[in-house]
Amino acid sequence: MIRLTLNGRETALDVDPEMPLLWALRDHAGLTGTKFGCGIAQCGACTVHLDGAPIRACVTPVAAVEGAAVTTIEGVDGPVAEAVRAAWRELDVVQCGYCQSGQIMAAIGLLSQTPAPTDEDVVAAMDGNLCRCGTYQRIRAAIADAATRLG
Ligand code: FES
Ligand code: FES
Repeated sequence: MIRLTLNGRETALDVDPEMPLLWALRDHAGLTGTKFGCGIAQCGACTVHLDGAPIRACVTPVAAVEGAAVTTIEGVDGPVAEAVRAAWRELDVVQCGYCQSGQIMAAIGLLSQTPAPTDEDVVAAMDGNLCRCGTYQRIRAAIADAATRLG
């Protein structure tokens, strides 16, 4: 049994400790907002927060999050999350949507650490999150918008 705090709730997952966190979230916890893209830490679709910092759930064994706090797109909240959601809506960032929960989790992670990021900060933080639809310009504009809302 793996015990963790999942979206603010004490949770026990009866899974193989070597199972990727992404599988446990989607198939055992029913949290399907986090997506499977590549499975090898190359696309960012599976991004969740571990103790507030973005990680790739597809390559993180459940055993690695024992006793920690995992937050998914379904549970992320607070002023930064609200600013990012508002900016995403305002700028109509989403196209097909597949990559966007990972993009949003990465953006929240960035702005939580760096409330007024430079262009270089944004590129560095978002570099590992791919978007097949090419929404990169709107993502960057939305991060700038969210930073303004937070300022
Ligand atoms: S599915 Fe995890 S990085 Fe692509
Ligand atoms: S919005 Fe379609 S993959 Fe990013």
